[in-house]
Amino acid sequence: MKHLKRRDFIKAAALAGAGAVVSKGFAKIPLENIGSPNSKPVVIASANGLKAVEKAMEMIKSGADALDAVIAGVNINENDPNDNSVGYGGLPNEEGVVELDAAVMHGPSYRAGAVAALRNIKNPSKVARLVMERTDHVLIVGEGALKFAKAHGFKEENLLTDEAREEWLKWKENLSKEDDWLPPHNIDDDDIGEIIRNYYRYYGTIHCSALDLNGNLSAVTTTSGLSYKIPGRVGDSPIIGAGLYVDNEVGAAGSTGRGEANLLNCSSVMIVEWMRQGKSPEEACLLACKRVNERCRERRLKDEKGRFKHNVKFYAINKKGEFGCASLWSGGRYGKIQFALHDGNEAKILDGVSLFKA
Ligand code: GLY
Repeated sequence: MKHLKRRDFIKAAALAGAGAVVSKGFAKIPLENIGSPNSKPVVIASANGLKAVEKAMEMIKSGADALDAVIAGVNINENDPNDNSVGYGGLPNEEGVVELDAAVMHGPSYRAGAVAALRNIKNPSKVARLVMERTDHVLIVGEGALKFAKAHGFKEENLLTDEAREEWLKWKENLSKEDDWLPPHNIDDDDIGEIIRNYYRYYGTIHCSALDLNGNLSAVTTTSGLSYKIPGRVGDSPIIGAGLYVDNEVGAAGSTGRGEANLLNCSSVMIVEWMRQGKSPEEACLLACKRVNERCRERRLKDEKGRFKHNVKFYAINKKGEFGCASLWSGGRYGKIQFALHDGNEAKILDGVSLFKA
């Protein structure tokens, strides 16, 4: 066992006492992991992340590490009571309790941290980062995640806004076939009280990835998950390889949309690997959509033409600063497929591509 000298102990204790969410920063990155200095920075996010990409780019331009920047970016959404897909104001589980999932991945140190089913703490992305920096673990869930956050000084608060509670109540009062409890069924069964994703239920999330001035990549995904989910349900967002993935030599990717489909396909790590093989970010995102569609075997999840009928969106950037976004569906009830981007000059909302058009 390694014993700390008194001098080192005092230094370590001072750092530990620095308190909640104070990062030590990333000053010491092993040389072989350093990116290409003076890279042209880029930040991508889901369409709800216009302010997030602005904030992240502002920080990157003043020299911040990509992870510091993307977390600060998505904190805007986590703190916003009007964004009911993330953090404070997020739509609750079926019992009316908000449960949050988040993950971060830091390219240059090839480390990640995540929390799932975290209650009463509005910035799960900051807790995820502390899991990465201050534990020997990658994912902490539920009660343990809450205790861990409190140990680091996070304060518990009620995350359920009146607006989110009223939305939940509407859903509760119209229950029947809109919950996730399924009767016994075969994968070929079509009519088993189909899960209808209507206006009351959705998989809101924010993903944000960035390439900083040192050519380093990092990413974060944070969400309140599927609205009115079974308590304890965890989606793709906090799962490294599914909700996000970063390889500092290649690129970063992340997702929003139906987490169950992405959990079965680990699409973010696949997207990064396809980029390593030479695919552009957009091509790689589209391949992930194809894979989700082709792998689905459950009749109840397909339309009359056998196409996967829920939506998943993917976002990716590569080491050169190229970017792309693709989803399974666009148009009709799926809406326009868009994403937020800051290319170093301006923050904008751009159109992505889709596999199918409704
Ligand atoms: N993609 C977010 C979720 O399914 O929870």
